[in-house]
Amino acid sequence: MRRPLVVANWKMNGNKLCSEQFIADLLSAQDQFTEVDCVIAPPAVYLSSLAPKLVASNIQLSAQNVSEFNQGAYTGEISATMLKECGCHYAIIGHSERRQLYHESNDLIAAKFARLIEAGVIPILCVGETLAERQDNMTYDIILGQIDSIIKLVGAETFLRGIIAYEPVWAIGTGKTASPKQAQEVHATIRSHIVKQLPTQAQAYRIIYGGSVKSENAQELFAMPDIDGGLIGGASLKLDSFLAILRQAGK
Ligand code: PGA
Repeated sequence: MRRPLVVANWKMNGNKLCSEQFIADLLSAQDQFTEVDCVIAPPAVYLSSLAPKLVASNIQLSAQNVSEFNQGAYTGEISATMLKECGCHYAIIGHSERRQLYHESNDLIAAKFARLIEAGVIPILCVGETLAERQDNMTYDIILGQIDSIIKLVGAETFLRGIIAYEPVWAIGTGKTASPKQAQEVHATIRSHIVKQLPTQAQAYRIIYGGSVKSENAQELFAMPDIDGGLIGGASLKLDSFLAILRQAGK
């Protein structure tokens, strides 16, 4: 049985005060989601001040991005070891907003994955197809290509130290979610692709779903056998809706 994982991706929203208030309120509601691993990905500047508040809780922190380099003259970038030092357990990489708006390639994302593993930070690798790619029957070529570019660099065993978030690009922030059946089909295909590489470990591997998950649709998505939790954008910004999703993941 895989333990559910629910990740709040706050993107570039909020401020210091409301982030701290959210965390205080979430901590006092912890008994509502004891069966779930809960992860918050705030803007990077808030990581250091939030980390001490979460010690001894079942809530952990994630970054939303990381540099592909270890250190040096890369103005504006943050390394994996710096994230680790700030109390970060996870980092999201390959989000479609970064692939599209910042032109991040599969090779660049693979380098980020490698830096995170070296620093002891767990990568949450986002994969997903655009609407045009789905309509062209390219969904699996795209997703398995995104996965294989990482496996090629780090090997299958190291790849399995991360987590995949399947996020169909057409479902992110659009209010259109994949149906539970559509999402399950992709998750099962990803798992069977991984089984081919490392049969013994693939069953324990967590694959979470993201793209317009809200309290109204979370339960039917999480009921699917290969969906192990969610990466939540908009609905993670309000405590009530995020808590409702956490409770449904724990059922
Ligand atoms: P959304 O975002 O839940 O607002 O669709 C998900 C994500 O971008 O990770």
